[in-house]
Amino acid sequence: MAIKSRIRTIPDYPKKGIMFRDITTLLKDPVGFRLVIDQFTQHYLENGVDFDMIVGMEARGFIIGGALSYTLGKGFVPIRKPGKLPGDVVDQEYQLEYGTDKVEMHIDAFEKGTRVLLVDDLLATGGTAFAGGALVEKVGGVIAEMAFIVNLPDIGGQKKLEGKGYKLFCLTEFE
Ligand code: PRP
Ligand code: HPA
Repeated sequence: MAIKSRIRTIPDYPKKGIMFRDITTLLKDPVGFRLVIDQFTQHYLENGVDFDMIVGMEARGFIIGGALSYTLGKGFVPIRKPGKLPGDVVDQEYQLEYGTDKVEMHIDAFEKGTRVLLVDDLLATGGTAFAGGALVEKVGGVIAEMAFIVNLPDIGGQKKLEGKGYKLFCLTEFE
C-alpha cells in the first residue's frame, strides 16, 4: 500500500475514459522513491534471479533502471526511441492503439548469452516490454525477468508476456 497509495490517478488522460496511473507523485516523495528501489533491490538480492545487465525502456524505465544498476552493481543499457542512439542499432516495431512505434538498442550493448533484467515503470498492453525483449534476444541476450512498478492486468500485458514464457515481477497493480 505504501507504494500504491503514492500513485496518483488522473481520469481522462491522455484520452477520455482512460484512468492514467501517474508515478510522478510516487517518485517525487523521497520515501516513495526509496521504497521502490529498496523493494526491487531486496527482491533481486534475495531471490537468486541470475542476470548480468539491466536494460531500461525510455523514458520512465531509465529512472528505476539507473538506480537499480547502482544498488545491484550491474551495468545499464538504454532502449531508446528512434534516432537517439549514436552507434549501430537493432530495432523493433510495436503496435500502438493507432499505428506503430519503434524502439532501438545498440547492437554491441552486451555479449551474446548475457542474462538481462528488463525494467520499466508500468505494464499495460505489454507492447513496449515485448519489443524490449525482442531487441535483447536479437543480439543474443536472454531475458531473466521483467520488472515493473505497476501492472495493469486487465489490459492484458501480463497474460501476453507470461504466455510467451517471460517471468514478471511487479510491485503493485491497479484494476
Ligand atoms: C508508457 C510506460 C511504458 C508503456 C507501457 O510509456 O512508461 O513504457 O507506456 O505501455 P504498454 O505496456 O501498453 O506498452 P510511453 O510509451 O508513454 O513513453 P514514455 O515513457 O517515453 O513517456
Ligand atoms: N499510466 C502511465 N503510463 C501508461 C498508462 C498509465 O495508466 N497506461 C499506459 N501507459
